[in-house]
Amino acid sequence: MEAKYHGNKPCHIVFCILTIFPLFKGLGSYTVNSAYGDTIIMPCRLDVPQNLMFGKWKYEKPDGSPVFIAFRSSTKKSVQFDDVPEYKDRLSLSENYTLSVSNARISDERRFVCMLVTEDNVFEAPTVVKVFISESQPFLIRKPLFLEEPCTHALSDCQSLLPPPSSKIQYFINNSLISKKINAVIIIFTKQMDPVTQLYTMTSSLEYKTTKADIQVPFTCSVTYYGPTGQKTVHSEQAVFDIYYPTEQVTIQVLPPKTAIKEGDNITLKCLGNGNPPPEEFLFYLPGQLEGIRSSNTYTLTDVRRNATGDYKCSLIDKKSMIASTAITVHYLDLSLNPSGEVTKQIGDTLPVSCTISASRNATVVWIKDNIRLRSSPSFSSLHYQDAGNYVCETALQEVEGLKKRESLTLIVEGKPQIKMTKKTDPSGLSKTIICHVEGFPKPAIQWTITGSGSVINQTEESPYINGRYYSKIIISPEENVTLTCTAENQLERTVNSLNVSAISIPEHDEADDISDENREKVNDQAKLIVGIVVGLLLAALVAGVVYWLYMKKSK
Ligand SMILES: *[C@@H]1O[C@H](CO)[C@@H](O)[C@H](O)[C@H]1NC(C)=O
Ligand SMILES: *[C@@H]1O[C@H](CO)[C@@H](O)[C@H](O)[C@H]1NC(C)=O
Ligand SMILES: *[C@@H]1O[C@H](CO)[C@@H](O)[C@H](O)[C@H]1NC(C)=O
Ligand SMILES: *[C@@H]1O[C@H](CO)[C@@H](O)[C@H](O)[C@H]1NC(C)=O
Ligand SMILES: *[C@@H]1O[C@H](CO)[C@@H](O)[C@H](O)[C@H]1NC(C)=O
Ligand SMILES: *[C@@H]1O[C@H](CO)[C@@H](O)[C@H](O)[C@H]1NC(C)=O
Ligand SMILES: *[C@@H]1O[C@H](CO)[C@@H](O)[C@H](O)[C@H]1NC(C)=O
Repeated sequence: MEAKYHGNKPCHIVFCILTIFPLFKGLGSYTVNSAYGDTIIMPCRLDVPQNLMFGKWKYEKPDGSPVFIAFRSSTKKSVQFDDVPEYKDRLSLSENYTLSVSNARISDERRFVCMLVTEDNVFEAPTVVKVFISESQPFLIRKPLFLEEPCTHALSDCQSLLPPPSSKIQYFINNSLISKKINAVIIIFTKQMDPVTQLYTMTSSLEYKTTKADIQVPFTCSVTYYGPTGQKTVHSEQAVFDIYYPTEQVTIQVLPPKTAIKEGDNITLKCLGNGNPPPEEFLFYLPGQLEGIRSSNTYTLTDVRRNATGDYKCSLIDKKSMIASTAITVHYLDLSLNPSGEVTKQIGDTLPVSCTISASRNATVVWIKDNIRLRSSPSFSSLHYQDAGNYVCETALQEVEGLKKRESLTLIVEGKPQIKMTKKTDPSGLSKTIICHVEGFPKPAIQWTITGSGSVINQTEESPYINGRYYSKIIISPEENVTLTCTAENQLERTVNSLNVSAISIPEHDEADDISDENREKVNDQAKLIVGIVVGLLLAALVAGVVYWLYMKKSK
């Protein structure tokens, strides 16, 4: 999956351009330095004679011939300017014959002469004008270059092209000087003069073999030249070059992170190429498909299902061998609870319950009954009232956030009322406690009725209704035999039970509760065992006696 470069090493061409003034040889005479665009002020430098007639200014052409530009009469106090287009509206001549030239140009760099004329003499004083460009900063222009392009540039004799006086142009990458030796740099130097402004443009080009390491690294160039204040070095601003190179590697990214993709998610595939500029379009291949789908660098699949699991690929459009692939698993978790919802069963019924899961990863089931976690999954071979409640079967895939399922079962266990009555005489012998135990769901209502007369202590008491059970207690002190009837009734049935209670004066056997009955049975068993042992011992003694008797009879 790597692209190979063909051809020579890549190179980059950089131009460093500086606009600069031309430098004149010093003339050894009085010199006025002026900045480009400023007003040149040239004092006459002559003592004004007594019999002065007029003052004049001229300049000298390169061949030495004079051009008159300004005239001032000493007597008439008038000023006239000659019709020289170059100086139109740029001149002024003061009373002391100081000439001002506004808007200094490079072409003003010449010798001016002040002339004071008397009847019998002409006095002259020359002034050399120099116009300097206030500092001009070199700037870099660059040409984006494909790294693959071979560097084919003719070599030039750079040195001989340098203009006088020698100026030096240097290039820097990341602030260090680009040396010819290291980077095989070729610098070609040209200069051009604008005929109107007479400004020189010096151009240097650098042929530099860029590497990817030069991406985002700043280049600068500097020019060293002689200015009005001597040698100067000015630097260009930093420039970062666009270095173009082809994609060597394609990568594919998946959002959300691959481990967390679940059914219903939207998956975004993002394809990236490491070239510059990066590729903007790709071909996306869905699992099992050979034909790519052309898209920008992202491709979105919405509301994916488990069948979207597979290998996804993307390639460059024009180079299909440059391809990346990734495997995506769409996680899923199905849970089915049977039965579910609200289920009503009768006490003693059988109820098989199943909670099955099917998932892309191992998942475990958790059972919760009325907010308490159960140790094992419930299954009912014979339903009890305490089995009623709200059951929740829950599962989650730990690897995939947000992938959890739950279903619930609300179990109602119904039963007809069942009654059991007990009675107990108070140790004091003054009252009897009759209890009516009722079991059933929905909660049966209990009603007492008493037949027969007698002093009844009208005192009933109910226990809380737990697991389909509760009781009602009545304490009575009957003067004669009475029959107590307990009626329990719910939506399913009405059940009646009664108990004969003899008058308080007549002692009777109390009905013991279940636990004491069981104990009594155990006691009885022990008694039987003891009797058995005793009988066994007696029989053994009897056998021994008989044997002894036979022995004695024989021995006689
Ligand atoms: C000549 O006159 C100008 C103003 O008219 C003045 O600024 C300048 O100093 C004078 N120069 C001399 C040499 O007197
Ligand atoms: C998936 O994208 C659709 C729009 O294309 C949006 O309505 C839905 O909410 C997104 N689903 C998820 C899980 O982000
Ligand atoms: C995946 O299954 C869904 C139904 O669950 C169906 O609509 C869709 O076309 C299937 N996609 C593929 C690629 O088989
Ligand atoms: C899933 O369960 C199977 C068998 O129950 C086991 O062999 C496998 O290692 C489990 N995988 C994980 C990821 O727990
Ligand atoms: C027992 O009390 C109930 C109400 O609490 C009353 O209706 C009933 O007549 C009373 N019975 C006797 C025998 O006092
Ligand atoms: C209560 O006594 C009556 C007669 O006094 C008898 O008919 C009835 O069977 C007895 N009931 C119980 C539950 O023993
Ligand atoms: C009351 O019941 C007892 C037995 O529990 C019995 O011996 C007695 O005769 C009964 N009395 C009346 C008046 O029925």
